Amino acid sequence: MKTRILFVDDEPNVLSALRRMFHDMRGTWEMDFAVDGRTGLAMMAEQPYDVVVADMRMPGMDGAMFLRETQIHNPGAIRIVLSGHSDRDMILETVRPAHQFLRKPCQPDELKAVMARCLALREVFLDERVKNVVARLDSLPAVPRLYAALLDVLAQEEPSMQAVAGLIAQDVGMAAGVLKLVNSAFFGLRDHVSSPARAVNLLGLEVVKALVLGIGLFGRFDKDAFRDFDLEKLWSHCLGTARLAREIAVLEDASSDVREYCYIAGLLHDVGKLIMATNFPDLYRQVIAAAQAGEGTILDMEHRFFGASHAEVGAYLLGLWGVTDEVVRAVYLHHEPGRDRHAGFSPLLAVHAANRLEHELVVVSQDFAINPLDDLYLTASGLTPQRLDTWRDACRQLLAGEDVA
Ligand SMILES: [Fe+2]
Ligand SMILES: [Fe+2]
Repeated sequence: MKTRILFVDDEPNVLSALRRMFHDMRGTWEMDFAVDGRTGLAMMAEQPYDVVVADMRMPGMDGAMFLRETQIHNPGAIRIVLSGHSDRDMILETVRPAHQFLRKPCQPDELKAVMARCLALREVFLDERVKNVVARLDSLPAVPRLYAALLDVLAQEEPSMQAVAGLIAQDVGMAAGVLKLVNSAFFGLRDHVSSPARAVNLLGLEVVKALVLGIGLFGRFDKDAFRDFDLEKLWSHCLGTARLAREIAVLEDASSDVREYCYIAGLLHDVGKLIMATNFPDLYRQVIAAAQAGEGTILDMEHRFFGASHAEVGAYLLGLWGVTDEVVRAVYLHHEPGRDRHAGFSPLLAVHAANRLEHELVVVSQDFAINPLDDLYLTASGLTPQRLDTWRDACRQLLAGEDVA
């Protein structure tokens, strides 16, 4: 079945340019064009769309209003906003129902890539449970400033490693975090790395991007305002899970891309906890207290108090912030991997196992129950108990090696 897409823009020139640009997509896309929001709404009332792309500034009903109406009348559509304005955060905040933001004029390949990514993340973006949590946020958490600046540099035609390293060097806390990681025993480097430029080279752009996002999100958490939440332990659990997930990928002889995705997904898998604790401190305190009192795992308590867990909330925001879809899916399902349609080795399998192994091998608190491994999913993915033991042993060795260093 073709993907049904509706483009709405008050400038007929823009619409005909889009029509021309995507002429070659007619085999897979069924495209409709509307010159204003009202016409667009009438069209979706006849037959709903899979994706809606709306201009931000239109007379009468503007893009924000149109996408809000779309959310009500065509809730199954992915909503993309096209804007002449360059501030991603401002746009995502004013057009909160938008799943993705594209700058005008946009290149055909960029729009195609965004469309493909959005369709791959459809389940994450349209998850009703997340919608309820996001609707209660006073404002959407902004992406860390340095991460946004990094995305801008990387969006240039030929992004330079030097420019990336320069950005990181400007932020003392960030530079220290990146250098600390690259010098940790995990990377096993003989020489001490002291420049961000060398660190960026060694880690690779994707990992640096994820670190900047992770360190940025953790860095702005107000520890004093939330004493019951041990931020350092959570960050060290995330770093640990990232290392173990990558180790598992190496054991499985995964490609270097997949190894990277495993690392990044491990690093970011629990950012939803941070976001929930930061934005709803009182409610999250109740989650922690109930889990500590033995009423269930943190995950169960998140479902009880929020109706959604950190996995869905984290994945949704990472999706909005442009993180690779393989990573977002792994974050989304890391506690319920059985919902994934693909069995076999994937970043999801690696993170699901690494998360559990990290908790098992690094016991920081007996106060909380640990979520079990999904045995059915592991079996369906072809993982035998013996192979899991091999993973466990390798992870134990990796962690022991680091302790010695
Ligand atoms: Fe988790
Ligand atoms: Fe975790």
